Amino acid sequence: MSHTSSIVMSGIRPTGFLHLGNYFGALRNYVRMQEEYTCYFMVADLHSLTTHPDTAALKGHVHRVLAENIACGLDPEKVALYCQSHVPETTELYLYLNMLAYKGELEKTTTFKDKARLQPDNINAGLLTYPVLQAADILLHRALLVPVGKDQEQHLEMARNFAQRFNHRYGEVFPEPRAFNYGEELVKVPSLDGTGKMSKSENQLATLYLADDDDLIRKKVMKAKTDQGPAEPNTPMPDYISNLFLLMRLVSAEDVVAHFETAYNGCSIRYGDMKKQLAEDMIRFIAPVREKAEAIRTDHAYLQQVMELGAEKARASARETMRLAREVMGLRYY
Ligand code: TYM
Repeated sequence: MSHTSSIVMSGIRPTGFLHLGNYFGALRNYVRMQEEYTCYFMVADLHSLTTHPDTAALKGHVHRVLAENIACGLDPEKVALYCQSHVPETTELYLYLNMLAYKGELEKTTTFKDKARLQPDNINAGLLTYPVLQAADILLHRALLVPVGKDQEQHLEMARNFAQRFNHRYGEVFPEPRAFNYGEELVKVPSLDGTGKMSKSENQLATLYLADDDDLIRKKVMKAKTDQGPAEPNTPMPDYISNLFLLMRLVSAEDVVAHFETAYNGCSIRYGDMKKQLAEDMIRFIAPVREKAEAIRTDHAYLQQVMELGAEKARASARETMRLAREVMGLRYY
């Protein structure tokens, strides 16, 4: 398949506020890809039901994710920006793919094991088949490139397996999708406390959200763990320090990063100064997104238009794929 004909698909769950991990793992790529490819980006509201069965907060979260997507630079005219539940073809494909997914492999999935541990009283079948629904999202548009962060790599591998099995059993319909990032490697944005990654719902004081106000950003960055600094030149960095540098590389100018790297290697680094700089650069990055998103989030008429237009585009693509899928499966009896 040629570069220009490649189709792109990705999604974000509406389970909370978007953060820097979502931006640098996913959204930053979306915004660039919309200029080069046919893109389908959605709010994965059905996926959120596997862990958040209470739907009271869903509407607000869906609006927020849509608004934050647009505030980061997605153009709903250029891409299909839609809600997963507005494209019912998704659930039909999910059903067919479920017959090709095995209990053993689903139980071994890292995200399933993590979530089962977090919610031992609600290990539902939707949670188990989460990667199948995600594969359906992607294959529904016969997408090839899936911009995601590192945490989604295993789900992409499973999507390739399901696509292969379908093609092998019934006939070639699906290309094998792969995780994509403009840099070489998939991104994992670490949390500010040096343990794990930034996340929508865990360790909120160690996660920088796109909706955080300036003072909160300062407070969170200044609280990040540091130490007295290296005692000898060119000491390897502990994780919590290299994480700070990683975050700085995302939002600060190159010469600023170089300045602190030199100071680290020469044992003259002052982490207080580094964190002050990082906080101001973060604010310069986050504040305009926050302000833009806030204006869009409260414009319900506009968001409705966006969702309707997005669903229309996504369903046109989905209908065509499902026609092909049913045909090769032999589900046409007349
Ligand atoms: P979700 O909602 O957890 O995250 C949305 C996107 O943000 C990326 N991400 C990160 N990247 C780098 N560092 C981090 N700390 C970080 N945290 C999150 C995720 O990799 C993702 O790209 N299962 C998906 C949603 C989904 C989907 C899809 C994705 C549903 N259907 C089809 C792609 C294609 C999820 O839970 O993402």
